[in-house]
Amino acid sequence: MNSSHHKLAAKSFGNNFLWGVAISALQNEGAYTSDGRGLSVWDLYAKRYGKIKGSATPFDSCDFYHRYKDDLLLVKALGFKVFRFSISWSRILPEGTGKVNKQGIAFYHALIDECLKLGLVPFITLYHWDLPAALEKEGGWTSHLMLKWFSRFVMVCAQEYGDKVKNWIVLNEPMAFTSLGYMLGKHAPGKTGLNNFLLSVHNAAMAQAEGGRIIRNIVRHSYIGTTFSCSEVMPYTNHPKDIAAANRLDILMNRLFLEPTLGLGYPDDQFLLMEKLHLLTRAWKYTERLKFDFDFIGLQNYFPITVKHSSVIPIIQASEVKAVTRKVPHTGMGWEINPDSFYRMIKRFDAYENVKEIIVSENGAFFKDKLVNGVVNDEQRVDYFNQYLTALLRAKNEGIAVNGYFAWTLMDNFEWSEGFHARFGLIHVDFKTQLRTVKASGHWFRDFLQGH
Ligand code: GAL
Repeated sequence: MNSSHHKLAAKSFGNNFLWGVAISALQNEGAYTSDGRGLSVWDLYAKRYGKIKGSATPFDSCDFYHRYKDDLLLVKALGFKVFRFSISWSRILPEGTGKVNKQGIAFYHALIDECLKLGLVPFITLYHWDLPAALEKEGGWTSHLMLKWFSRFVMVCAQEYGDKVKNWIVLNEPMAFTSLGYMLGKHAPGKTGLNNFLLSVHNAAMAQAEGGRIIRNIVRHSYIGTTFSCSEVMPYTNHPKDIAAANRLDILMNRLFLEPTLGLGYPDDQFLLMEKLHLLTRAWKYTERLKFDFDFIGLQNYFPITVKHSSVIPIIQASEVKAVTRKVPHTGMGWEINPDSFYRMIKRFDAYENVKEIIVSENGAFFKDKLVNGVVNDEQRVDYFNQYLTALLRAKNEGIAVNGYFAWTLMDNFEWSEGFHARFGLIHVDFKTQLRTVKASGHWFRDFLQGH
């Protein structure tokens, strides 16, 4: 650790800056059949052999469903003001549509009430990847009926919680769940193929804007956003073919969802995949409906990507040159650590005319933590946050309208296909005993937030 850690303090970001920590329902709640919850696509996916590392399942996870009161005390103790969590659609509507589950509704009322009691500001994410399994049977995100199903879910949530909660995030990283879930088959529901991907992209983009409109209509004085993953894409060499490869991937990673949301329509660059998207969805008819005037854009950044041209990869014709191969700093996931790239992505989002405000709604890292005598000395994570927050402050000081930062994540949890080995938390969880241990990074955050 270097001495510059001590110089950075939350107060440099201004008094109104939103400091938060984020979790999601599927990754934390567990209690997967309790109180009438229906199954989600991830519950089924986890049962398929070889899909998740260590054959892990999200069935119990960190048992946040039963332990939320204690966990919120930890949020408070670490000094965060904002608590971002997601609502499990299949707790609210076990079949995805149809009958509302009163016990599911009651759980989130209790969670919200507890936040308010502790003085924590709740930020609700409506969709963080846990689609009700019943809807996947009908085609899930590839079905145009998603718009109707999702609208109903949003309406129920907004009507129930809108009096208490003003901050809403419609989707978590649509690019991640459509590409990993419907093209590459690496996340639930494990589908593959170009058509599945393109259909799910369009239905997600439509649902995202519609979700925003529904909340605007129902919730008074709302502050509405949605989140996008972003990764700067850099060519491995200056060869025109590598530059073109980087540009193709950039369209997918950074523009595909953001631009239609801002009213610019889908990117229409000369790229086969985009041409297919335009034809398949008749995109030109939907420019207006894909647009919603979000109060803030949630920017989520974990890594940049370096690519080179590759003729063996269909359509995209680009392959990654990994951080390990390039011998640059990386996390336990192999993700490049590059705070300057984070800074550039913030500037890039801000440069869009219709982006009003930015919140960094997720950022964090997995390192191979060790719990030794009740202590997790995760110096690398401390260093990571220190570097990324320094980059953020640089952007803010240049006048970028970035108004918040939410760390990913409160505690070690079910990290999707990586199961439980990839620990991103500020708090260590022993998944056998459910014992929580605040890591050095958690202590570092508390000191940083309190200005020590
Ligand atoms: C994000 C996702 C989170 C978390 C994180 C770390 O893409 O929204 O749920 O898993 O990545 O991989």
